[in-house]
Amino acid sequence: MGRLDNKVAIITGAAHGIGRTTALLFASEGARVVLADQDEAAGEASAADVRSAGGEATFVRVDVASAEDMQGLAREADETYGSIDVLFNNAGIEGDTQSFTAECTLEKMCRGRF
Ligand SMILES: NC(=O)c1ccc[n+]([C@@H]2O[C@H](COP(=O)([O-])OP(=O)(O)OC[C@H]3O[C@@H](n4cnc5c(N)ncnc54)[C@H](O)[C@@H]3O)[C@@H](O)[C@H]2O)c1
Repeated sequence: MGRLDNKVAIITGAAHGIGRTTALLFASEGARVVLADQDEAAGEASAADVRSAGGEATFVRVDVASAEDMQGLAREADETYGSIDVLFNNAGIEGDTQSFTAECTLEKMCRGRF
């Protein structure tokens, strides 16, 4: 019995690093994992590694700065596995940080204009 049995987990930035390792770990705990990343080749390879280890995984190519891509990701996860239980917003890069407030719009957040 895994700690994430019957859960569906979306992991962004899952092609490499922390996200990739998290996808393998979550799947080993029973989650069906949706790997999302802008690096399609490495993302597909990571999803294949999850499946080779006995897990259930699918890959979706996204740019997390695109609202359209993220809506498509949620839709695809729901259509493929029927729910979304865990969301690991991991994709990102080192750089300037900004405050998240009620005044933030998606456009400002995505483009970094405050
Ligand atoms: N590694 C560390 O020590 C550390 C420390 C503090 C915070 N973090 C943060 O943790 C997160 C993951 O770190 P990591 O070391 O695994 O990084 P990594 O560079 O190994 O992996 C980041 C992944 O995110 C993907 N990605 C980047 N921008 C994207 C975008 N716009 N859309 C979709 N995918 C995108 C990359 O393709 C890559 O697969 C990052 O946000 C990083 O800033 C890492």
